[in-house]
Amino acid sequence: MKKGLLITFEGPDGSGKTTQIELLKAYLSRKGFEIVFTREPGGTKISEKIRNIILDNDNSEMADMCEALLYAASRAQLVNEVIKPALMEGKIVICDRFVQSSIVYQGIGRNLGADRIKNINEAAIDGLKPDITFLLTIPFEEGLKRKSKQRSLDRLENSGDEFHKRVYEGYMSLINSADYITAIDANRSLEDIHNHIVKIINDLI
Ligand SMILES: Nc1ncnc2c1ncn2[C@@H]1O[C@H](COP(=O)(O)OP(=O)(O)O)[C@@H](O)[C@H]1O
Ligand SMILES: [Mg+2]
Repeated sequence: MKKGLLITFEGPDGSGKTTQIELLKAYLSRKGFEIVFTREPGGTKISEKIRNIILDNDNSEMADMCEALLYAASRAQLVNEVIKPALMEGKIVICDRFVQSSIVYQGIGRNLGADRIKNINEAAIDGLKPDITFLLTIPFEEGLKRKSKQRSLDRLENSGDEFHKRVYEGYMSLINSADYITAIDANRSLEDIHNHIVKIINDLI
């Protein structure tokens, strides 16, 4: 049986997931917890190779279903090699994106269907469920503006406004879809958001 805690972060590009994860990691480390951090797609040698294929701007001909299956393949390796073993050892695992990203980006953004993507991912995660998911909500224009100030955009981020609008709406539709999802308005200061997250985490640990 799993003993640890799986915390995942979701939200559009530029909503502040990576920023908040860094703050939370530092906070939990100061409190003496052993943290395992992973990101999606990626987080293992094999998954990082898959990540490079997915995000490469040169792969513009990639079929949407290929993209969806590559994400699921990357996730299957990550769950098997990193997340499940760490949870068995009682560690706190923090994951930058998880299944909800696939449901929203491939299921809704790419129009493959949320249920179809959910089914593919059932096989990939083999029954694993987050203990808590922080869903950072921000209008896509604002998120992409923040992102493009930071670095050049990858293949997914370059998928156009219509795609990102569907992604945003997809995330909004997930807000009440599971009891482990907590939505947070990401249009606030870093500190406000961090304090909100810490309060919720302290009730869990
Ligand atoms: N609450 C916030 N207010 C203003 N800017 C932010 C906030 N959170 C993050 N940023 C900035 O926005 C950019 C994207 O943040 P990041 O954490 O990389 O987002 P994500 O991982 O969700 O794509 C970074 O430059 C970051 O410094
Ligand atoms: Mg990030």
